Amino acid sequence: GKGGHAHYMHKEIFEQPAVVGATLHSMINPATRRIDLGRYGFDAAGLETVTILACGTSFHAGMVAKYWLESIAGLPVHCEIASEFRYRRPPLGRGALVIAISQSGETADTLAAMRYAKSRGARTVAVVNVAESTIAREADAVLPTLAGAEIGVASTKAFTTQLVVLACLAIAFGRARGELDCKAERALVAALADTPDLITEALAGDAHAGGVAALLAGARDVLYLGRGTAYPLALEGALKLKEVSYVHAEGYAAGEMKHGPIALVDKEVPIVMIAPPDELFEKTASNMYEVMARGGQAILISDREQTDRFANGVAASIAMPEAPAISTPILYSVPMQLLAYHAGTRRGTEVDQPRNLAKSVTVE
Ligand code: M6R
Repeated sequence: GKGGHAHYMHKEIFEQPAVVGATLHSMINPATRRIDLGRYGFDAAGLETVTILACGTSFHAGMVAKYWLESIAGLPVHCEIASEFRYRRPPLGRGALVIAISQSGETADTLAAMRYAKSRGARTVAVVNVAESTIAREADAVLPTLAGAEIGVASTKAFTTQLVVLACLAIAFGRARGELDCKAERALVAALADTPDLITEALAGDAHAGGVAALLAGARDVLYLGRGTAYPLALEGALKLKEVSYVHAEGYAAGEMKHGPIALVDKEVPIVMIAPPDELFEKTASNMYEVMARGGQAILISDREQTDRFANGVAASIAMPEAPAISTPILYSVPMQLLAYHAGTRRGTEVDQPRNLAKSVTVE
């Protein structure tokens, strides 16, 4: 059942502290407080490049992972939409690791792309939520997300648990490649370990997000902007809104604004700025000024200090708990989900089963 929630999507959003915690604990050795992927038959020896293959929301998780694998493990990463990759016939050397990310483990394009990679001699690892799935069976190794069954067609808890697994993988590779010492690893693990509590805090903003969602529910078009790991979150926020509310939305890298999308800005277009208070914040804030100067309705998602600072200029804001950098993409997924959910319910859509969508896309 829905456990007191009006929809499965809402229930699954609220399961995240538990399932993110469970997934995290499955990757951490409690004695050493370090990442332990040994039991998953996984070995980083001889690794030269990583290619990530996925579709939809799982692809967005892969895009976040690219930032982590590059910055934490020093690995060159390609992140590819499976339906494009499979027909390009790209070369893959023996030092290539292919990571297939899929909630269902049955997505036709992701499976075909992974099979192609295997046929070229690449090692494959699957990050899947359904342990008995085809992708899990055919991959050389499996890193399970422990999200439990996801019923809502819009992926929520599967996404955040994918991020957890991928963050742990980046840390494990960082250590194996000598990019992280023991102390640095433990600091990242400790930071990740706080994520479930931070998600609980973010979920306390549910009713407030419901109010902010009114701005989106009444819009014809919505833009989502972010930089760094907030860029894939912008794509994910826009996808979620499209799926469950049928409001047209696009995600952009904030730096791309002036290369086109700024032409859309007027007082009718809400712009969701995903701007965690990191070293990129001021750059994103200057994009926000540009939006506001053109009458755009900025919705700022940042920490309390920044949302207070911009309180007078923005149309609305969502104040997030302070968080270490590595948990930010996981944490900032929550307002993306809540905004989409509430925009959908305000518009009276079938949020758990949006029109034209299937939970598992087994045809290309
Ligand atoms: O099961 P998968 O993760 O392979 O599915 C990939 C996409 O079909 C999926 O993420 C889709 O985009 C969702 N409806 C997003 O909410």
